[in-house]
Amino acid sequence: MNYKAKINVARRNTLDQMDVCQAIRLRKSCRAFTDQEVSQDVIENILELARWAPSGVNHQPTQVAVLGKETKSNLAKLLVEKHSLGINPNPDYIFCPKEWSEVYKNRRKECGLALYQALSISPDDIEGKRKHWRTNYHFFHAPVGLIIFLEKNMPVGSWLDAGMFVQNILLAAQSFGLATCPQAAFAEYPDVIREVLNLDNVDIVCGIAIGYENVSHSLNSYRTKRKPVEVFTRWYS
Ligand SMILES: Cc1cc2nc3c(=O)[nH]c(=O)nc-3n(C[C@H](O)[C@H](O)[C@H](O)COP(=O)(O)O)c2cc1C
Repeated sequence: MNYKAKINVARRNTLDQMDVCQAIRLRKSCRAFTDQEVSQDVIENILELARWAPSGVNHQPTQVAVLGKETKSNLAKLLVEKHSLGINPNPDYIFCPKEWSEVYKNRRKECGLALYQALSISPDDIEGKRKHWRTNYHFFHAPVGLIIFLEKNMPVGSWLDAGMFVQNILLAAQSFGLATCPQAAFAEYPDVIREVLNLDNVDIVCGIAIGYENVSHSLNSYRTKRKPVEVFTRWYS
């Protein structure tokens, strides 16, 4: 099938796929996957949808690396090694502030508690938490891993664009019955990623695990909560 035909199939398929509101509501971060493979066609369809994300002056800055088994495994080995040795991360951007304000600190705590409760890891089990964190580097054993990157030193606006592109990937995947997890964990040691993927002059934004959800795994057993609309909205006349 040529590229144009594939695009048409993707467009037609999407009409039959899940409604976007349903995809938004059903999407959650999945951290345990089944062994079921994801075909290249499906990934191409997801990326075909993702590319329709908006971007400032339509400069379309977001780039994607699709990692198969061998590359995922090579990358995981090196990242796990770095983390296990306690080597300090040196991300290309600041993901977490040094100090969260109280309201965000509490939300972060709630998020962590839910995760570690699902794993029966106690809050003071630092090594247990670090061990779980390292499963990030295996894309939580999802069959497909994506790395999202930008040309080096792009402005904040381009990072916004990348966020929208990522969300399109998550929602498109959801509509194809797939589960995902966006992963800033892959931004921690960007030099390793650049080396393994042979990328020059880029900033590493995040990873995305994609596969079929292991619905019986305790890690996928909970949903995070959200604040109601009135908490974050101010209405003006
Ligand atoms: C940019 C970004 C980076 C994230 N990085 C990680 C990560 O490295 N590891 C992880 O387990 N979850 C990661 N998450 C998932 C968040 O923890 C999750 O989105 C949040 O707790 C809300 O839960 P939900 O996605 O299930 O709705 C990330 C999410 C975003 C948006």
